[in-house]
Order: sequence, then structure tokens, then C-alpha cells
Amino acid sequence: MQPDAAGIGIIERGAVASRDGRIAFVGEQADLAPKVWAQETIRLDGQWITPGLVDCHTHIVYAGNRATEWEMRLGGANYEDISRAGGGIMSSVRAVRAASEVALLEQALLRLDHLMAEGVTTIEAKSGYGLDLGQEIKLLRTARRLGASRPVRLLTTFLGAHALPPEAGGDKEAFIDLVCDTMLPAIAKLGLADAVDGFCEGIAFSPAQMDRVFLAARALGLPVKLHADQLSNGGGAALAARHGALSADHVEYTDEAGAEAMGRAGTVAVLLPGAFYMLRERQAPPVAAFRRHGVRMAVSTDCNPGTAPLVSLLLTMNMAAVLFGLTVDEVLAGVTREAARALGIFNEIGSLEVGKACDLAIWNVDRPAEIFHTLGLNPLHARVFRGL
Ligand code: NIG
Ligand code: FE
Repeated sequence: MQPDAAGIGIIERGAVASRDGRIAFVGEQADLAPKVWAQETIRLDGQWITPGLVDCHTHIVYAGNRATEWEMRLGGANYEDISRAGGGIMSSVRAVRAASEVALLEQALLRLDHLMAEGVTTIEAKSGYGLDLGQEIKLLRTARRLGASRPVRLLTTFLGAHALPPEAGGDKEAFIDLVCDTMLPAIAKLGLADAVDGFCEGIAFSPAQMDRVFLAARALGLPVKLHADQLSNGGGAALAARHGALSADHVEYTDEAGAEAMGRAGTVAVLLPGAFYMLRERQAPPVAAFRRHGVRMAVSTDCNPGTAPLVSLLLTMNMAAVLFGLTVDEVLAGVTREAARALGIFNEIGSLEVGKACDLAIWNVDRPAEIFHTLGLNPLHARVFRGL
């Protein structure tokens, strides 16, 4: 099924056949019968089948939680102030550094199981709470083990340029040197990262610093992506586009020029309404500009201990519609084909097409909007990963 740019393709009375974990047929039931002899046939009773869901931006491997900081925010403190006072990302860095790999894995599995129970078959996991080579390796290795522990496809992202660790003594340039010259080559050599990310923001790193990280990543053949324009317009989206990034994420403050650059580069906008909601942000991403410039939009949980303690992609999908104004079709595309594009693996997953991995989510609904209409209700009937 090859859906058009905006809509989703729908086949009524459809059938999917799988062989060796790949889609061998997808189309009308009537066209299937003469062509396929199936070892096993599963009849559905009016359920809907979508591609398995893809959560393309998470920080799912972490230790502890930041409920105390949330209480401070409820009392009026803001995220940037807490961060500057040594809380925020840095408090999760302390918790991760103190945690064993086994503890990290156990905590992440709990969250992964929630996501999988809602039909997620592919997930991305970032590092970024270690911030020295050994600790970043620990996070990425745990992420690989997480993926191997469940029937799920997990892609890792090295997010060394997430925040400045205390031992850097306030020297961001020197830390970026460390990321580019030491951490990146070592992590690439170990094959622990499928992509490289950074946090481009006043409280994190400048566009010039991220530029250096991206050049180093690309020299190693690693695709890049960016936390861009989340709290202010720092030109992050344009920087990402200039580097041919897979995605620019958050992008609440991205301007028209940034959207245009993304459209031209084919950089996906990854919308993260959970963080927007938890931080009580006011500025929604420029969805109209993204549509105007043909920027593809993905939707993801951003699952993390601070800005998005969130293990429900279905709830996130609802938020993308209600808070950001996406249509039902855009949301569904945002957690399937556009999320697959944001991970650079649309040739493998993200739509129901012959030859792709047979990853499916099967829903007890009468129409697609019902998949994420009722808050807190999970209408998943079954989940198929690689044909099983
Ligand atoms: O995607 N923006 C930076 N990184 C994360 C937040 C991480 C944290 O607060 O722990 C995000 O929102
Ligand atoms: Fe994030």
C-alpha cells in the first residue's frame, strides 16, 4: 500500500501475508486467495491493522526520577532555572552514574513493556545522561541489551552533547572537543550508536558547537539529528537541515526559514507534545509552516525522567492532535511512516508494503481515530513483530 503524501491508505477487507518475517502480500482479501497458500491463517473480526508503531525519540534508559523537580515546577520554578541550579538533566546524570547496568536495564524494561503493550515495535533510545566516555558506553550498551531482551527493534543514538558535566569546569568548548575527538570515535568503533544527537539551546550547546559535533559524526558515517528550538529560536532546525539531518526534534520555536530549510533537506520534524505538556509550554510548533513547506512530521514520546516522564505513545498521539492540531491521518503517519523516516529506516518498516518487515499493530476499533481517542484506554488487539 503506497499512501499519498498527506493521507493514509486504507484497504477494506484487507489481508496481510507474512513469510520469513517479511510482508509477502498486502491487499484485498479477494486478491489473496489464489496466490498464497498459508501455513497458518488468522481471521480478524473487523479489527484494523496498522504498521507496528514507531517511537522515534526517547531517553528511555535512565535511573531514578525527577518528581521532586516537577513539584518545584508546579510551585512556579521553571525548567531552565532548575537546570542552571544543577538540577534537570544533571540530576539524572548523577543517578545514572550511580546505577549499575543491571539496574538501568530493569528500570528501562518496565517502561519498554508499557510502550510495547500499545503496539510499539520499533523504538529509539538515546544516551546523554552519562556525559563521560565510560558512562555513555554504559548507557548505549544497556540500550542494546534492552533491544535484545524483547521482540522489538531498537536503534541507539549517542547524545554526548546533551549537557555540560560538572567535571568540565564550565568549559563547553573543551567538552565539545572531548565529544568529537574521543567519545565519538570510540563509540563508533564499538558500533554502539546508530546516530548522533545534540541539544542546541541556551542552557546546552550553541549552533557552532553542534556544527562541530555534526561534522565529526558525519566524518564517521553516522547520521545526525538535533534537539532544536525547544525553548527558544536558536536556528537549530536550520543547522540540522544544513547537515542533512534525519530529524530536528521539538522545534516549537522554529521559524518560517527553518521550516523551509527542513522541507528542502527532507529533515523530519519530530513533534514531542509530552514535553510541551509537562513544561506547560505555550508555543506550539509551526505545524502550518511545516505543512506549507512539505516538512514531514513524526510524533514521539520523548520518554525521559524530566520533561516527559511518559510511557504511552497513544496518549502522546492524542496530545499531538489536541495540543498541536495534527489531523488523525497526520498523527497515524507520524508514529509509523514519518517516524520510520526520522530513523532512516523507511525502506525497512513504517508502512505495509511487500518486502518490509512484517511488524503490525492490530486494533479493536471501528475507525482509526478510535485508536487514540479515549485517554487511558488501550485498544490494541495484538502485536506482530517480524511476522510473529
Ligand atoms: O528531550 N531537551 C533536552 N533533552 C530532553 C530532556 C532531558 C531531561 O530533562 O532529562 C528532552 O526534553
Ligand atoms: Fe529528547
